[in-house]
Amino acid sequence: MEHLYEKASASAAWLKERLRFAPKIAVVLGSGLGDLTAGMTDTKEIPYADIPHFPQSTVEGHKGALLEGRLGAQPVLAMEGRFHFYEGYTMQEVCYPFYVFQLLGVETVVLTNAAGGINRSFAPGDLMLITDTINMMGTNPLIGPNDERFGPRFPDMTEIFSHDLLDLARRVAAKQGVEHKEGVYMGFMGPCYETAAEIRAFAAMGADAVGMSTVPEAMVSSYLGMRVLAVSCITNMATGIQTVRHSHARVLEIATRAGDRMCRWLGEVIQEI
Ligand code: HPA
Repeated sequence: MEHLYEKASASAAWLKERLRFAPKIAVVLGSGLGDLTAGMTDTKEIPYADIPHFPQSTVEGHKGALLEGRLGAQPVLAMEGRFHFYEGYTMQEVCYPFYVFQLLGVETVVLTNAAGGINRSFAPGDLMLITDTINMMGTNPLIGPNDERFGPRFPDMTEIFSHDLLDLARRVAAKQGVEHKEGVYMGFMGPCYETAAEIRAFAAMGADAVGMSTVPEAMVSSYLGMRVLAVSCITNMATGIQTVRHSHARVLEIATRAGDRMCRWLGEVIQEI
C-alpha cells in the first residue's frame, strides 16, 4: 500500500467524525472469544466496508466491523473480525487498523487469540498471558519504506508487551482467582496446522504456544508506540502432543467455553487501565 500515512489519516479523519468517544483502548478478539463485546454498552457499529481505505473482510461468516462502546466507564474500540495473513491479505493490510488506531489517539491495544499449547504443562482451556513472541510468519510487517511520523526504522522490541500491563493483568488475575499461564507465543503463517516436526522445533526454540495471528499486530502496535497486552486461549495441544487430529469446531468450542473467564478477567483489566 503506497502512501500509508495519507490513507490511514483519511481513515482516521473519517472515523473521528463518526465516533462519539475518543477511545484510548482498542481490543481485538480471537476465534470464539467475541463475548467481551457482548458486555459493552452504548455501542455503535461501523462496518469496515464503510471506512475509506480499510481492508475488507472477505471470508464468509466473518464479521467485519469496528464496535465503539464502553466497558464499564472505559471507552473502547473493538475489532469484530481481524485480518489474517493466511487469508491472503498483505502484512500491511493485516496491520492497517493499528496505524489508524494510533492516529485516533489509541494508547493501548489488547489482543486475544486461540492457540495450540506446546508447553506440556498446559491443557486445553488454559489462558496464557503472552510475555514475548517469536515471529515465524515468514515475513515482517514493517518491511518497506519507513515513515518516521509513525515510528522508527529499527524499532526496539524489548518490551513488545507492556510490562506494566502484564503486572496489571497478574494483579487482576490474583484478585479474581483466575488461574493463568504465561509464555511465549509463536506466530506461524498457517493456514495448515503445524506438523509434529515443526512443533518439536518450535518447542526447542522456546515457544509455549502457537497460533496464526497476533505477532504482526503486536509488532506494529509496539512500533507505533502503543502499549500491548495479549492473551491466548489454549484451545488444543499442538500437533504431535495431542493424539487426536485438529478440528476448528473443537477450537471454537473450547474458546467459547473459556470465553467467560477471559472476558471477566480482561474486562476488569481494561477498566483499570
Ligand atoms: N496451531 C495454530 N493455530 C491454532 C492452533 C494450533 O494448534 N489452535 C488454535 N489456533
